[in-house]
Amino acid sequence: MKFFVDTANLDQIAEAQDLGILDGVTTNPSLMAKEGISGEANVLKHYKDICNLVEGDVSAEVISTDFESMIKEGEALAQIDDKIVVKVPMIKEGVKAIRWFSDQGIKTNCTLVFSAGQAILAAKAGATYLSPFIGRVDDINWDGMELIEQISSIYTIQGFDTEILAASIRNPLHIVKAAEAGADVCTCPLNSILGLLNHPLTDIGLAKFLADHKKSGN
Ligand code: G3P
Repeated sequence: MKFFVDTANLDQIAEAQDLGILDGVTTNPSLMAKEGISGEANVLKHYKDICNLVEGDVSAEVISTDFESMIKEGEALAQIDDKIVVKVPMIKEGVKAIRWFSDQGIKTNCTLVFSAGQAILAAKAGATYLSPFIGRVDDINWDGMELIEQISSIYTIQGFDTEILAASIRNPLHIVKAAEAGADVCTCPLNSILGLLNHPLTDIGLAKFLADHKKSGN
C-alpha cells in the first residue's frame, strides 16, 4: 500500500518525505486555504513547491464545476509538473472531464466519493485514483471501511485498474483497517502516520535495553 500525506503544509510534507516512506501528496481547496494560499499564481507556485519536495504523485484539485472550465484548469495544473494528478469531483461534469483527461494521458484523482456506484462510474471513466472519504462516512454513522471493502471487491471482480485511495483518514487505526480492506493508497494527516509508531511495550522495552546497557558499564 502506498502512503500519501494529506496536506498542503510544506514543513509537514518535508517531514513525511524525510521519513523515507512517502509515495505522494494530496491536497484540496480546504487544505490550500488552511495554508493561506490564494490567487492563481500563488496556487500554481505552491503546487510546484510541493512537487519539488516529493518524489511521487501530487494531487491538485480543480475548483470549476463545468466541463470546459475543468479541462482548462486541469490542463494548467498538469503543466506544472509530471507529478501532478488532476483531482476532479464526482459530479456528472467531473466524470466527463476524467474521461477527457484519461484520453489525453493526464492522471486523475476522482474525489468526494461516498458509494460503490460512484466508484464504478469513476473507474469506467478511466480515473487513475478514486478517493472514498472514510472519515466522513463514519461521521454519519455508516461504515467507511465497508465501503473500501466493497469497492475493492468490485474492482477485483471487474478488473478495473483505478487505484483505491482511502481518504479522510483521521487516525492510525483507519490506516491499518484501510490496508486490511484492500486500499491501494492511504492519504493521511502526518499525525496519523506518526501515530503508527506508538506502542507502550516498545517504549518500555527500549527504556529497559538502554538501562541494562548503562548498568553493564559500556
Ligand atoms: O483527503 C480528503 C481529506 O482531506 C478530507 O478529510 O478530515 O476533512 O474529512 P476530512
